[in-house]
Order: sequence, then structure tokens, then C-alpha cells
Amino acid sequence: MRKSLGMRKSLVVAMVGALAAGAMVGGATIALAQADPIKERQENRKQAAAAMRAIKGVIDAKGNAKDAVDQAAKLKTLEVAFVKLFPAGSDKGDTKALPAVWTDWAGFDAASKNAETAFDKLSVAAGSGDIAQLQAAFADAGKACGACHEKFRAKAN
Ligand code: HEC
Repeated sequence: MRKSLGMRKSLVVAMVGALAAGAMVGGATIALAQADPIKERQENRKQAAAAMRAIKGVIDAKGNAKDAVDQAAKLKTLEVAFVKLFPAGSDKGDTKALPAVWTDWAGFDAASKNAETAFDKLSVAAGSGDIAQLQAAFADAGKACGACHEKFRAKAN
């Protein structure tokens, strides 16, 4: 009798402990949501678009391709950060990310890796100093943006 009462007591202690742990997980989820990954990833993309515009400026001005080195590197850095801004639950809200991001995560990740490769090549082309090389790599980078949008971003209204 005394033994089984003790066991029951420790079961209750274990359950209370589990509930407390659950509450902490819930708290962490709320903290994440408050960081607003939707706004962060949209800001990330605005910066990517700005970097692309800056590179286009160098091309249009037939300037020094090396002036695009920093922006190309920035595109890569932004891309690496971008895929980390899609936590579960962030499909809801003021977002143009399609449900396919979460249902086909492997495809989304591959589209991002494809863009990373294009940005690496853009960096190399910029570093070459050759504006024709930069122009070709820039066109490919633009295609990498578009390929992901085609599958994973809702069309603008
Ligand atoms: C791996 C997929 C992917 C790649 C690569 C990608 N995008 Fe996007 N982009 C998205 C998704 C998804 C959204 C929608 C984000 C949201 O609304 O939550 C988006 C949104 C945007 C937006 C709108 C941001 C806003 O203000 O709401 C711009 C601008 C944009 N992308 C530009 C670019 C450019 C430029 C590139 C290439 C340099 C690029 N994207 C590459 C997936 C991608």
C-alpha cells in the first residue's frame, strides 16, 4: 500500500514536471512568433532586390565589374539566412509564401541552393572585372530568383 502510494506520488511529480516543460516549449514558440519571421524574410528579400538593382546599375553604366563584388557576396549571405525564416506556423499571416514551401521543403531548399550557386558565380564574374561576364551571370541569378518565385511565391496582386 505505502509503496504504491509512493509510486503514484512520483508519477504525479513526473507529470507536473512534464507539464512545466510543455509550458516552457509553449513560451519559446510565442517568443519566436514575436520575432516575426514573415517581416524578417520580406525585409531580407527587399535587400536582395536592392543588391540586384545595384549590380544592374554597374552593368547599365558599363562600369567596373569589380564594383559588384560586395553586392554579389551580400546576395549569398542573404540567401543563407533566408531559408531559416520559415518556421512552422509562419505560413499564416501577411505572406506571399505559398503552402508548397512547407509541403515541399526539399524543393524549396533546392531552389535556394540553386540561387546560392548562381550568386557564387556572380561573385566570380564580378571579381573577373569583365562586364560581359558579369552581365551573363546577372541574367542567370535573375533566373534563379524567378525559378523559386514560380513555385513558391504567390503572384503579386
Ligand atoms: C528559395 C526561394 C526564393 C529565392 C531564390 C528568391 N526568392 Fe524572392 N521570395 C520568395 C518567397 C517565398 C517570397 C514571399 C515571402 C513572404 O511574403 O513571406 C519572396 C518575396 C520576394 C519579394 C517581396 C518582398 C516583400 O516586400 O514582401 C521580393 C522583392 C523578392 N522576393 C525578390 C527576390 C530577388 C531579387 C531574388 C533573387 C536575387 C529572390 N527574391 C530570390 C522566395 C525566393
